[in-house]
Amino acid sequence: MALSRRNFLKGITATSAGLAMPAILTTSALSYSSSLNALKIPDIMTGAQQEGKRVFDLAIQQGTSHFLPQKKTATLGYNNAYLGPVLRMRDGEQVSFHIKNNLRESVSTHWHGMHVPAHADGGPHQPIAPGKTWSPSFQVKQKSGTFWYHAHLPGKTGRHVYQGLAGMIIVDDDESRSLPLPKEYGVDDIPLIVQDRRFHRNGEFQYISMMPDRMMGMAGNVILVNGTAHPQLTLKRQRTRLRLLNGSNARIYNFGFDDNRSFYQIATDGSLLAKAVRRKRLRLAPGERAEILVDFEPNSQANLMTYPDRSAGSSMGMMRMMSRNNETMQIISLRAGSLGASDMTLPKHLIEVPNWSPSNADKIRRFDLQGGMMGMMGGMGRGSGMMGGGGMMSNMWRINGKAMKLSRIDERVALNSIEIWEISNSSMMVHPFHIHDIQFRIIDRNGRPALAHEQGLKDTVLVNTGETVRVIAEFKDYANSKIPYMYHCHNLEHEDGGMMGQFTVEA
Ligand code: C2O
Ligand code: CU
Ligand code: CU
Repeated sequence: MALSRRNFLKGITATSAGLAMPAILTTSALSYSSSLNALKIPDIMTGAQQEGKRVFDLAIQQGTSHFLPQKKTATLGYNNAYLGPVLRMRDGEQVSFHIKNNLRESVSTHWHGMHVPAHADGGPHQPIAPGKTWSPSFQVKQKSGTFWYHAHLPGKTGRHVYQGLAGMIIVDDDESRSLPLPKEYGVDDIPLIVQDRRFHRNGEFQYISMMPDRMMGMAGNVILVNGTAHPQLTLKRQRTRLRLLNGSNARIYNFGFDDNRSFYQIATDGSLLAKAVRRKRLRLAPGERAEILVDFEPNSQANLMTYPDRSAGSSMGMMRMMSRNNETMQIISLRAGSLGASDMTLPKHLIEVPNWSPSNADKIRRFDLQGGMMGMMGGMGRGSGMMGGGGMMSNMWRINGKAMKLSRIDERVALNSIEIWEISNSSMMVHPFHIHDIQFRIIDRNGRPALAHEQGLKDTVLVNTGETVRVIAEFKDYANSKIPYMYHCHNLEHEDGGMMGQFTVEA
């Protein structure tokens, strides 16, 4: 079995180094089942109680990871060689963090999906200098859900996250705790941080080595789940809740099981759904999260896969050809031995999802996602752009004709207003559009109402080519006329390539 693994590695390094478009090498095509690795379950960190606050201590550090047999990979992580602990907190409580940067370069840490004051947001305006500690605090004001934290400096986000600077956040509230849902962390409530990576022959991560990496976004041919390659999880209960986080730079997954079983989606990015939705496929773009319930019989087995995404508007022409979202890959193998009993009742109604009526909107803003081929020509040069935010790469992707500029506030939102943001995509690629500070509801796509599984709170929405998505949200609690929040494409190479803008919320 060691031999087949070695051939497998030889295969990927050869194809990715030699071709502009890597040959499709699917993990499912390989029979490595005898060499699956037990899924790493990140440590859970509940912080220390100090003066009524929950305090989390995090160190951003370098490390060495062992993803592949006999290979070492230089990585970054929070308190770990790769990724960070799962931070668990409760709605309503005060939390604070001490984040020490042990790297020799600046980095920031953003609370993706969380409603926090702009100065605590951890985006491009809160860099942590080498050797320094950043100590934000805020009150948790969230519905129960799955959130995440990750590095977020302009021009560096893609590389930092790729190297490992990300982790999951679980927020609990009273409402969700009273529901009969699996909630024992690591037992029947499992985080799955799904990422794709590409490796050099020597075992190091390969980041941006060919033109499509920059244009389409970075894609790899090895799936890591919680930093485990070829993972396998032994289930302990009849019913398991999987918290799916697409922590990849650019890959969009179309999850499903290889025995075509159905599962229940119970949550979107920022909340539970009003009711569970039975599904066989689940499309998840970078930055998005979903929680699903899967039921297993004792002594059974199924693999969670990603399948080619053929949804309308998923990409066009040449973009479709180069798209990395048309591959079948294995994500994780799930095995059930003898299983403990679960409460199998699925409540008809989960929660009341906050919503706002479009007729109550104070303002409509329009965002057009643009770019692609023109920018690509400039982006083919060597060097610049990858390290810094400036240079030719900054014009590759734009929103409303503009590439991201730190010194420019693009939109000013009035505190306590309800707004509709109309996001249209006139480029030839799909873009997951993410908004800081708020959780929104999707009103419609090209006039068609949001689908049942989209009707939870969200902070990231995939906008197909030629599509206009309308979202609605309320901008409350925190105002700051100086420090902006971001909105951007969560394809991290697009974000670093300029597809980002800034808004303030002002009293
Ligand atoms: Cu996941 Cu601006 O962030
Ligand atoms: Cu965010
Ligand atoms: Cu994009």
